[in-house]
Amino acid sequence: MKGLLMNLLAINGSPHGADGNTAVLQEAFLAGARSAGARTDVIELKDKTIHHCIGCYVCWTRTPGVCIHQDDMTEILERIQSADILVYTMPLYVYTMPGLMKDFVDRCLPLAHPAILKRGDHFIHPQRWEGTPRRSVLISNAGFPETHHFDGLKRTFQLLHDAPDREVLGMICCGAGPLLRIPEMKESVREYLEAAFHAGTEVVNAGRIQPETQAILDRSLASDPAVYANLVNAYWRSQGVDMPSEEKRRDKSGPAPHPGIPLAAPTELKTVRDVVAGMPQSFRAEAAASLSVVIQFEVSNETPGLYFTVIENGCCASFEGEHPHPNLVIRTPRDVWLGIARGELSGATAYMTKQYTIAGDMELLMNLPSLFSSTS
Ligand SMILES: Cc1cc2nc3c(=O)[nH]c(=O)nc-3n(C[C@H](O)[C@H](O)[C@H](O)COP(=O)(O)O)c2cc1C
Repeated sequence: MKGLLMNLLAINGSPHGADGNTAVLQEAFLAGARSAGARTDVIELKDKTIHHCIGCYVCWTRTPGVCIHQDDMTEILERIQSADILVYTMPLYVYTMPGLMKDFVDRCLPLAHPAILKRGDHFIHPQRWEGTPRRSVLISNAGFPETHHFDGLKRTFQLLHDAPDREVLGMICCGAGPLLRIPEMKESVREYLEAAFHAGTEVVNAGRIQPETQAILDRSLASDPAVYANLVNAYWRSQGVDMPSEEKRRDKSGPAPHPGIPLAAPTELKTVRDVVAGMPQSFRAEAAASLSVVIQFEVSNETPGLYFTVIENGCCASFEGEHPHPNLVIRTPRDVWLGIARGELSGATAYMTKQYTIAGDMELLMNLPSLFSSTS
């Protein structure tokens, strides 16, 4: 019954609003709260007009509780008064909150009374009105994989609530947040999103995020930051961004000889040798355009296990053996690559969970599905 009476109001400070990475976490959390019987609502700050605080203190003197600016903040402050719990949703921007959220927080000044009073061992500004919510949750995500990037934001959020009558009910700070919206990463992020959902139910039912749930939410989505960095860098390259050291290495590699034994088209698909041998048949020349690359496979649990595919001049040919200058080396157990080739396993998920590893051109790896039709 307690949950039925509870109102959670999320303030989303992402410029991407409902289409952003943070919103994925926010939605999981609010869905959990609703499942426990709470009412939830979201304010998208990006759709609001909120002028900067100019520090005039008129809201503390001539018109107590009322700002000189006549903008959307008036309505937002009213809505805040009818919430039980505030959910501050925001991406990490330069180790702290984005400007949209900072303007909102600054413009909450009318909610505070100017007096500086001692509460416990702290001096604080007391709240001006009784009804202002005192309990809050932070939801954030960051582009970097390591969670220490949130240290500044978490500290700021704690200080915002550093008064005996204010309480932080939990913080969801998700490293490697861009993985949240990649369809192929659905499995990898499932546990985190389930924890965010549980966090919503726990805040309603138990008054705060429980330690076991918080422990999951304190982890990054990227178990291996180096693997994640490869993915991110490949994304930026695909957007036309020059990645200096990589590009220089590629220029030096020059035209490659083909020192292997040509592989004939396979009659079955039982080994990675069959998969590589079949790649010329499923090659999509129109997708390759002027691409000139060598992909080396190093397969464990298979003899001989060394094969390579050459793509150049709009053609594709496969060989047994080892190429001296591959652009991409794929090191994989036989069953993993067979599973990917047969469409039973997602290549991206298998990579993120380190079922196979690569060296070299990550962008090329990401482009493989477009270069070959489905079962190569
Ligand atoms: C101006 C700006 C500053 C950023 N600063 C950081 C940062 O300090 N640390 C970090 O890990 N990511 C940083 N990011 C990346 C965002 O936190 C990341 O892309 C996030 O997933 C965006 O979430 P959203 O889609 O909800 O807006 C920054 C992005 C921008 C545009």
